[in-house]
Amino acid sequence: MKALVSYLADARSRVDTVLASATIGDEVVRYSLLGEGKRLRPTLVFAAHEALNGSSSAGVAELAAAVEVVHAYSLVHDDLPCMDNDDLRRGRPTAHRAFDVPRATRAGYDMVALAARVLARGLAALELSTERRREIALELFRAAGAGGMIGGQTLDLEAEAKALPVEALAEVHRRKTGALIAASCVIGGLAANGTRGHVEALRAYGEAIGLAFQIADDVLDATATSDQLGKTAGKDAAHAKATFVTLLGVGAARAEAERLAAKAVDQLRQAGLVSPILVELAHYIVTRPN
Ligand code: IPE
Ligand code: IPE
Ligand code: MG
Ligand code: MG
Ligand code: MG
Repeated sequence: MKALVSYLADARSRVDTVLASATIGDEVVRYSLLGEGKRLRPTLVFAAHEALNGSSSAGVAELAAAVEVVHAYSLVHDDLPCMDNDDLRRGRPTAHRAFDVPRATRAGYDMVALAARVLARGLAALELSTERRREIALELFRAAGAGGMIGGQTLDLEAEAKALPVEALAEVHRRKTGALIAASCVIGGLAANGTRGHVEALRAYGEAIGLAFQIADDVLDATATSDQLGKTAGKDAAHAKATFVTLLGVGAARAEAERLAAKAVDQLRQAGLVSPILVELAHYIVTRPN
């Protein structure tokens, strides 16, 4: 646990250094990027890279930062009145509350372009074939797009006030949240120039913890306080969201998240990948307090 705490702190400082030095003219973008998030996705990029003995780290922090920029943009738009209409994010007012809706909307779009620029900087620094670099870029923007996060966000809104079957809800969660988390793991593996088998094991790990992450988020929404979360607790019920808690109840939802975390770790073991940090991260994702 101590190892994980210091690993998370180190990952945060590496990624925040890149974010702080990126050319961000807009104060809304700055506000949205540099808030108190967990930096889980960049941490996964680093951990997956190291799991494959990725030696040269030049460029990896930029890849990790690019993933975080996409994530932070998704939060800005997720909070807008046309989506979850939230007031609190990362312990302070959401971007559209601190500024206004047009500025927050535009900041989100700006951040997609910023992510591409930061990614390009990272790709240029990596000593990899053109094909590998292409795969990394494709991985990030495919996960962010209609087949991944954006598609999942659309399904999430369509599912409000509906009782979805568990498998359909799992698909929403895989896309809106799981895709970017899995991509973080894959990108770390590709940056280490991993074998196809190892990269696919990292993907399977990422997909399992990605779904577990959103189930844990649903549980926290129903069980924690806004103070603990730094975002409004209880808002899924207020919006009649379809969640794992409404479908299974808190106990079974927690059990399902734990089953998935164990499955994730098993994927690494089967591929012969030894990474105590990825194992600890899987556990952290389903036991975190916020
Ligand atoms: C929140 O993600 C949005 C979901 C995908 C559930 P995080 O819980 O990783 O948010 P931050 O980055 O720590 O603020
Ligand atoms: C958000 O899911 C998923 C993305 C931002 C892509 P939620 O709507 O559950 O996230 P929170 O609870 O607002 O952080
Ligand atoms: Mg949402
Ligand atoms: Mg939300
Ligand atoms: Mg939530």
